[in-house]
Amino acid sequence: MSSSEEGDAEAQNTELHTVKCQRKFSAANVSADCAVLDLADHNPPMRVLELGGGYGCMAKKRPALLGKDTAFPRCRSWQAGGLDEDGQISIEEAKSTDTFDVVVIPNIWSQVPEQLTRPASEQGIVITRKTEQAIPSLSSAGFVLLEFQSETLLAVRVEALASALGAHLQQDAGVAQVNGAILGELDSIELSDKFTSHHATDDAEYIQMGRLLYISRFVPGLDLNSLFRRRLEPQEPLETVPLRDRAGQTIHRPGRHNQYDSLPADFRTTTEPPAGYVDINLRAVSLSAKDIYAMSGRVETHKSTTALDFGGIVSAVGPEAKRDFLAKEMGLPAEYVFNSRDASVVEGIKAATINGVNIIIDFLVGGLMHVSWGYLAPFSRSVEIGKRELIDAGKLDMHVFLRNITLTAFDLSEFFFAEDLFYRNIWNSLPGATQGAIRPREALSACRSGCDKPTARQLVSRLQDTGASVTVVRGDVSSADHVREAVLASTTTSPTSGVVQAAMGLREALFIRMTNDAWHIGIQPKWRGTWNLHHALEGHDETLDFFLMTSSLSGSLGTATESNYCAANGFLDAFAHWRGAQGKPATSVGLGMISEVGYLHEKPETEALLLRKGHSAAQ
Ligand SMILES: NC(=O)c1ccc[n+]([C@@H]2O[C@H](COP(=O)([O-])OP(=O)(O)OC[C@H]3O[C@@H](n4cnc5c(N)ncnc54)[C@H](OP(=O)(O)O)[C@@H]3O)[C@@H](O)[C@H]2O)c1
Repeated sequence: MSSSEEGDAEAQNTELHTVKCQRKFSAANVSADCAVLDLADHNPPMRVLELGGGYGCMAKKRPALLGKDTAFPRCRSWQAGGLDEDGQISIEEAKSTDTFDVVVIPNIWSQVPEQLTRPASEQGIVITRKTEQAIPSLSSAGFVLLEFQSETLLAVRVEALASALGAHLQQDAGVAQVNGAILGELDSIELSDKFTSHHATDDAEYIQMGRLLYISRFVPGLDLNSLFRRRLEPQEPLETVPLRDRAGQTIHRPGRHNQYDSLPADFRTTTEPPAGYVDINLRAVSLSAKDIYAMSGRVETHKSTTALDFGGIVSAVGPEAKRDFLAKEMGLPAEYVFNSRDASVVEGIKAATINGVNIIIDFLVGGLMHVSWGYLAPFSRSVEIGKRELIDAGKLDMHVFLRNITLTAFDLSEFFFAEDLFYRNIWNSLPGATQGAIRPREALSACRSGCDKPTARQLVSRLQDTGASVTVVRGDVSSADHVREAVLASTTTSPTSGVVQAAMGLREALFIRMTNDAWHIGIQPKWRGTWNLHHALEGHDETLDFFLMTSSLSGSLGTATESNYCAANGFLDAFAHWRGAQGKPATSVGLGMISEVGYLHEKPETEALLLRKGHSAAQ
């Protein structure tokens, strides 16, 4: 090769080298820088300083890409600077002490690195190539480094980042108090009271594991937070509101149980009631459980007689108005009505009965419990059907037994739970009761797999053992057509008197990773299925005694990986209120964990997991 050829080749190599360099710092890199700039601060008044100008001709492109000289600039100024012979920064058309929102530093970290970050303002950002010198220099100047496309670094001052995050949390996320902590010390930081702050929007339900806080909700749950706070700080006063100002009572279907509800005060109108309806001037409403019990049901005897039917003694509860009511409206002689709120009841009853009464059903509570035994005649019986004194471990005065009195307690459900067949058979012989709680004459069982599963076959055979005729249909409760067909099939020979909606689908995942399909697996059987049943049963409400939905505690408490299942059960609970408010039977039972039957029985590993998490199983 001649010397001229060698020179040409060298020139070509140099050119090639330049091309390579240009490729390396090609438009893609410039765009990346601009994207970083946009990320850093999409801020028209932004002032940018480029130190060193190491990108050559590309330096001009960046201001252009940021639309600097257009009608919509994304930066106010783009200035060039460099290092003078003394290693001091000099900036074109600016003082060397000026500060900038963004400082772009090419690979000049080998020269006076401590000087290079100085022009960055307090909130300023540094964008640079990722090099061995850049990383320690920026870190020691107090910057947090974010790597971009593995070769560009975006550096933010820790304080600026922290204050920006704090401002975001306070202004946008509504967090009342934001506390800072040094990263390296996170392990040793205890989340004390100052973290569990007391603002209504602060999430009070979290777990700290390692360095992270796990919170089960995306947005603050104000009601839950307030509940947690009330539990943690019982001193927080509850507001007492006179009920009469807020609500009135309504009875949707007189004579049927479970039909009491309250109406908001503004619902009450002064208009005339429609034809066939009367206005009831409600003077007093008692909301104690016992009063509701007394109003909605009665302690029934075999022949449905009550104390009133005996024409005997009634000891009314406290208020004068109630005693008046019994005397005036129910026709009871006033001398047979006593005040059960004080000890005068003993002398009164003794005087009216010569010896005292022969049977007490459900004795009085608290201090009056012993008082009520005072009017039991010798050889008489007291049967407790309430549970308060039993659960509260009330103290028994043994003197009562000196009069040969029998005290006993009775809870019907004990027959159901009894292992002794003798008692269990008593339960089975009760009208309306079976091994579950309902003993139908005709039953229709509907699910997708019919009788394929052994558990389904067992259910059918158990129902048949109680004398029921059972029809099994295959169908998907989330299909309106299938549900209509099933309801039609169940009403061909006799009207439908009850529905148990127990369908469920499970597919677990954290909400952020839950696919749409998984979401619907959890939602459809409960939400759409219930909705379909509700519509398919329109017109059957008169014969329907119950519409029972098996919800879960998860619907109220939540489970991190079961947002679909929780939402579906939450729907059932709300739906029961909604349907019940229309006077239609609707009950949603929030079951806890059930072992020995059902899903968990078939999935022992899930049961073990729940037990580990502190759930306790009902059998
Ligand atoms: N086990 C517990 O610890 C527990 C706790 C709280 C609440 N619960 C609730 O109690 C109910 C019963 O639970 P389990 O443990 O007995 O569950 P299970 O044995 O899995 O029973 C669920 C039934 O629903 C049927 N089903 C599911 N999707 C259906 C659909 N789209 N259409 C028609 N039928 C469908 C299933 O039959 P196919 O697959 O053949 O359709 C299955 O027979 C559920 O509502 C559940 O949420 C259970």
